Amino acid sequence: MKKFLYAMAFFLFTLSVSAQTVWLDQLDLSAATQGYGVPSKNKSLDGKPMTIAGQVFERGFGTHAVSSLTVLLDGKAKSFSAQVGIDDEVKGHDPAADFELYADGKKIWSSGTMRLGDAAKSCNVTLDGVKKLELVVADGGNGNYYDHADWANAKFEINGANTLKTFSPVSNVPYILTPKALATPKLTGPKVYGVRPGSPFQFLVTATGDRPMTFSAKGLPKGLTINPKTGIITGKVSQTGTYTVSLAAKNAKGTAQRSLCIVCGDRIALTPPMGWNSWNCFANEVSADKVKRAANALVKSGLVNHGWSYINVDDFWENNRDSKDPSLRGKFRDEAGYIIPNTRFGDMKALADYVHGLGLKIGLYSSPGPWTCGGCAGSFGYERQDAESYAKWGFDYLKYDWCSYGNVINGLPENDPNKVSSLSYNGGNELNTAIKPYKVMGDYLRKQPRDIVYSLCQYGMSDVWKWGDSVSGNCWRTTNDITDTWVSVKNIALDQDKSAAWAKPGNWNDPDMLVVGTVGWGNPHKSKLKPDEQYLHISLWSLFSAPLLIGCDMEQLDDFTYNLLTNDEVIEVNQDSLGKQATCLQTIGELRIYVKELEDGTKAVGFCNFGLDSVDLSYKDFAKLGISGKQIVRDLWRQKNVCKVSTWNDALSVKIPAHGVLLYKFTSVK
Ligand code: GLA
Repeated sequence: MKKFLYAMAFFLFTLSVSAQTVWLDQLDLSAATQGYGVPSKNKSLDGKPMTIAGQVFERGFGTHAVSSLTVLLDGKAKSFSAQVGIDDEVKGHDPAADFELYADGKKIWSSGTMRLGDAAKSCNVTLDGVKKLELVVADGGNGNYYDHADWANAKFEINGANTLKTFSPVSNVPYILTPKALATPKLTGPKVYGVRPGSPFQFLVTATGDRPMTFSAKGLPKGLTINPKTGIITGKVSQTGTYTVSLAAKNAKGTAQRSLCIVCGDRIALTPPMGWNSWNCFANEVSADKVKRAANALVKSGLVNHGWSYINVDDFWENNRDSKDPSLRGKFRDEAGYIIPNTRFGDMKALADYVHGLGLKIGLYSSPGPWTCGGCAGSFGYERQDAESYAKWGFDYLKYDWCSYGNVINGLPENDPNKVSSLSYNGGNELNTAIKPYKVMGDYLRKQPRDIVYSLCQYGMSDVWKWGDSVSGNCWRTTNDITDTWVSVKNIALDQDKSAAWAKPGNWNDPDMLVVGTVGWGNPHKSKLKPDEQYLHISLWSLFSAPLLIGCDMEQLDDFTYNLLTNDEVIEVNQDSLGKQATCLQTIGELRIYVKELEDGTKAVGFCNFGLDSVDLSYKDFAKLGISGKQIVRDLWRQKNVCKVSTWNDALSVKIPAHGVLLYKFTSVK
């Protein structure tokens, strides 16, 4: 008996020394993914003391929905506990979030929907034998706006030494797939280009390969000439018609040839616009100098040789209603109602000339409301003057952003800054009111002696894809603003099929700009998307025939970003002349397979893994993708044929990392 008691005492003693508390904040929280901001240790998302309904906590993990953090336990943890809730720092907003715990993939606890002001909820779960615990903050059903979520006092009780670690299932290591361009010339860019009769024509013939290079074009319609040194075709076409032009690019290593179809008629933007926009990078800090530098960098980096051509100025070239910055203050308009740019921009024609001189095109931004989303002067009541100014200055593109127009509909005073909120969706869901302001500007743009691509930005209200063409729109946003987070890109991507049938040459659904490279809306940082997520993002936007507008600092292009933006076989999918948009034809778990029909009868197929587990399967369902008969399968990112398959007996081995993609092209062979 005595022996037994000694043994018991010893056992309990060992247990007590080896059992210990491990605080969540002792682990590497940077492995978390979240909808906004960065994971915060022992502080709220905004870096303040964690506070839930007035109660302050010293330790924990401050995050933002939608958030996920995986902890590898290896069966060592006995329990996990925390106090969870919405942080008080978002007072004045309406956040809602649901805290959830998953043990080895099975949901074991949920807080239910928590709102601002709800007292912290206690969570206490046992974890015997559990290998992996995932802490999730889901959005509480009203979008993830302001969902600042706290896992306060979060800790594990464990047996033995602390071997707990966090884990990110999505790799953080960049890798380059795009092969380097060859020294011999290769023509790139769109194969079809639309112009209206009499409009000034400017088209840059682009090619990769060693410089110097000379360019020629046979069969140009009357009125056009090519500069052999720069490859810029300029002039005016007066006769409507379809002209097949034979382009050639020649350097010391050889000559490349390709056809370009010039269609002189009613329609422009026959392939999705490709270029750069200032917003995701500079936001309200944009200036003419920064725009020129972006244009120079686009050329110098060589991106221009892959067809990137627009340089688009977003909000903040106009004077602002309430900024304290003197460079944004000044008269909004002259006596005749013509807009006066702010002093950061000054001479808009000089800027347009500069950008055109590089062979590029230039775009601008405004709102049908009295104020833009950033509180600068909008076009309401001055649509004619504005359209005339854009044409006179030589602009080629207008992004027209709903912003304060909702207040016009609701009869709020237009010029009272206190009463006009910046971004109001009010009214945009009623079809006639949604269409009206876009028609007004569309009509004025069409009257200009210049082709101006018209980009509607109203976040998809009233199914804009169904009527955008009727107001002369060339592209239209189908979504709210993108951010450089997985949640944002994923949610936008999953929402695109509904509008796909309306995409066609001259009409493009716009899931918003690219979030690769150094982005940051005035707060520059490397895109928070992981490398595989970035491959998926670019692949999907190409499959979607989306306008491709780079949103990064062009002077900070790193090799990985350059690789993402210069793969001509991927870009060709986006620029395909047929102008169809891919849709998802098959879903296997979280694998979604998108198919885009291409002009030459081939198909681009994206095997897109939206899940946290890698996919490894032997794929045979070709009939579901509309593919039959023998096929050559080409990997577009690697620019390599993968294999030949005959659909009735061969299987395709498909291996895709978490949040990654395989972008293939299927070509029938006899
Ligand atoms: C809105 C748009 C953005 C950008 C800003 C500018 O949020 O959706 O793309 O143009 O306005 O203020």
